[in-house]
Amino acid sequence: MTDPRKQVVLGAHFPGVNNTTVWSDPASGSHIDLASFTHFAQTAERGRLDFLFLAEGLRLREQRGRIHDLDVVGRPDTFTILAALAAVTEHLGLAGTINTTFNEPYEVARQFATLDHLSAGRAAWNVVTSSDAFTGENFRRGGFLPHAERYERAEEFIATARELWDSWPVDAVRADDDQFLTDPTAGSFQHRGKHFDVTGRFTVPRSPQGHPVIFQAGDSSDGREFAARSADAVFSRHSSAEAGRAFYSDVKGRLARYDRHERDLLILPAATFVLGDTDSDAAQRAAEVRRQQVSPQTAILLLEQVWNRDLSGYDPDGPLPTVDPLVSDETSIVRGRARQVSDPFAEAARYRAVAEAKGLSIRETVIELTGRQTFVGSPESVAAAIVDAVATEVSDGFILVPHITPGGLDGFVEDVVPLLQERGVLRHDYTSGATLRDHLGLPPARPATDWAAWASSRETVTVGAAGPDVRETA
Ligand SMILES: Cc1cc2nc3c(=O)[nH]c(=O)nc-3n(C[C@H](O)[C@H](O)[C@H](O)COP(=O)(O)O)c2cc1C
Repeated sequence: MTDPRKQVVLGAHFPGVNNTTVWSDPASGSHIDLASFTHFAQTAERGRLDFLFLAEGLRLREQRGRIHDLDVVGRPDTFTILAALAAVTEHLGLAGTINTTFNEPYEVARQFATLDHLSAGRAAWNVVTSSDAFTGENFRRGGFLPHAERYERAEEFIATARELWDSWPVDAVRADDDQFLTDPTAGSFQHRGKHFDVTGRFTVPRSPQGHPVIFQAGDSSDGREFAARSADAVFSRHSSAEAGRAFYSDVKGRLARYDRHERDLLILPAATFVLGDTDSDAAQRAAEVRRQQVSPQTAILLLEQVWNRDLSGYDPDGPLPTVDPLVSDETSIVRGRARQVSDPFAEAARYRAVAEAKGLSIRETVIELTGRQTFVGSPESVAAAIVDAVATEVSDGFILVPHITPGGLDGFVEDVVPLLQERGVLRHDYTSGATLRDHLGLPPARPATDWAAWASSRETVTVGAAGPDVRETA
């Protein structure tokens, strides 16, 4: 059923390391100065958006032994940034991606509880398992844990964190009548499981939200099931109408077996956008942005990820290589998170077919085939497309990924936000409550024991198929 007044959830992804960021543009500023983060966060708050979102990269991608061109801006630490932003914003949610493979629950639970206190209830955790041994080398664990076990560990990680957050009852601290602790056992915990065996006292009293909002990003069947069982929101890559609807109904369809309702889990795909005075202006600008995103050297780097070969001798303005891709389980030309190519021969054939049919060079072919602008048009068209997508269950909203830092959100907030407000799908002010959970319309944090009961039904589950929409992520 469509609902044209369904509220649109909007997040703002700080444009860090990914293939859509343009930092050669004169408008592009620092990716690491506090001033850039502040500008971006305050713009999002001025637009009454729900939250700011940080992706995580624990190791910079490398290609041919060099740091990937798009990664030279680096990856500063999530908690430090979000704590700084808590001080310069008042209402905006602060979402950070933190993986469960290379961390420990006690430390992460403590950091999120602290962030929730410092921000007065605005913390969110995007749980990822991370995907490769290259990243793990930073932690001396290399290829630590196969895929399925990473999710098993993630599940136990969150369950443990929830136990820690619940270890302090609400109002456990009362500084009157000489009674400081109303419950002498406050903070006590004991968790014995396959991955974690921890006991002690948690150091942080209960935070305003109780538990931060839990996001999940991961697209496999295991990942989707994990989201249905354990998360409040999903950061997805499926923003197109058809793939978005398929993803939405697949993941929401999994909720009933955990006795959860559709509204308990928000589906929020990443979305890029290019605005113009008219639709045709925007289309022209979008083509220019694509050329900025795929510089001549980026075109070669992206092509190498398909061919798995050193193609540095090729002319980006010349034809595609006639040599075939190199298939090898051991050697990958790119190290670290990147586009995943499951069948390099089929992918190379697709590149060749497009190049031949349209007479395109290497760079033009890469631009044609790796494009991912979700919303292109005048502010009116983009606002209408967003409202339509949410009304027709492509998603519950979007996490906007601008291509310019830090000013890439400015035009959206100035020109699109007022139209969404006029249509009654975006708040004029933050009035629904003080916390991020309130803004998102999520129920108050459920106790760890509820989540544990849902998780115990995991054995009986059969899972559906997962499929990629766009295959590159932050
Ligand atoms: C939309 C999206 C965004 C992601 N962002 C990150 C990220 O910022 N950092 C990271 O380490 N992994 C990220 N991941 C990948 C996760 O690490 C994920 O746990 C991993 O790919 C394994 O899960 P899967 O096989 O279910 O996709 C992302 C995945 C998706 C789908």
